[in-house]
Amino acid sequence: MRKPPEINSKYFYDDRGSMLFERICELPEYYPTRTERSLLERIAGRVTDSIRAEELVELGPGGSTKNRLLLDKMAEAGRLRRYVPLDTNETVLRRMAEHLADRYSGLHVHGLVGDFTQILECVPRGNRRLITFLGGTIGNSRPREAVSFLSRIAALMGPDDGFLLGMDLIKDTARLEAAYNDSAGVTAAFNQNILHVMNRRVGADFEPDHFRHRAFYNSKDHWIEMRLVSTRIQTVRLPAIRLELSFRTGDEILTEISAKYDRDRAASMLARAGLRLIEWYADPENLFALSLARR
Ligand code: SAH
Ligand code: TRP
Repeated sequence: MRKPPEINSKYFYDDRGSMLFERICELPEYYPTRTERSLLERIAGRVTDSIRAEELVELGPGGSTKNRLLLDKMAEAGRLRRYVPLDTNETVLRRMAEHLADRYSGLHVHGLVGDFTQILECVPRGNRRLITFLGGTIGNSRPREAVSFLSRIAALMGPDDGFLLGMDLIKDTARLEAAYNDSAGVTAAFNQNILHVMNRRVGADFEPDHFRHRAFYNSKDHWIEMRLVSTRIQTVRLPAIRLELSFRTGDEILTEISAKYDRDRAASMLARAGLRLIEWYADPENLFALSLARR
């Protein structure tokens, strides 16, 4: 079987995609958001106190409000100075900045719009920073790329900075697969939306309705694969990159992987990136974990 073509998953998150993702986060099957939020409720104060955080740098916040749990604790301690979110979606960043400026008086919001793999080094220098990468988004990179991205985060960090990483955990296949195959079909709509984005951004001529959503757990690589399956014979043109893709019925596009971790795999990934795992926080059911790391 030939390798399916891939689309970079950052293209999911135009305004419609970001809205659909926010709906995914509320689905009964999609446990990661709820679980990570309740973990954060439990540990936010401990984490921000342990590094006496004055600044929060957040990679890919989207429309999530989890950051408030950390910002509240920093504000209560009288230390909150700056919030630096990085996201490709400017709309969500602007909305976020407005909300937060209302909620925390005197907060300086320094938003960075772009691909965090390209603009990471634009993060301003600072002290006592807490850098967060939540939602299991690290899992959307292959392990080797994840290590090189984490190494770049490590290179930004000073000795008094902390890094809080959210990771979805390895668990039984049925539970994992349900989270990416919800019964309301929101995930399917989210997955197909990436084709609309490709049409708009690179002038492709995908017919999104001629592809159906498929997600399954690849237990050898410990990741979910999100695919779009061609429901007919069709040819798609991507003039911007002078490419024509021919699909037979059943041919697939790989739109996303979502890698799952356990404590050992997380610790070794962090170590390879030059980071030390200081604390491991998981929920009682071991669904999701937050790692606190330092350089
Ligand atoms: N952190 C939030 C949202 C997760 S969805 C949560 O936990 O619920 C992933 C977010 O990361 C989206 O907002 C998307 O726009 C952003 N994102 C994905 N890839 C990105 C990239 N390469 N550069 C910048 N932002 C990215
Ligand atoms: N970061 C999310 C995850 O890995 C992204 C995600 C959730 C996603 N559901 C999806 C991506 C469905 C594509 C399709 O869980």
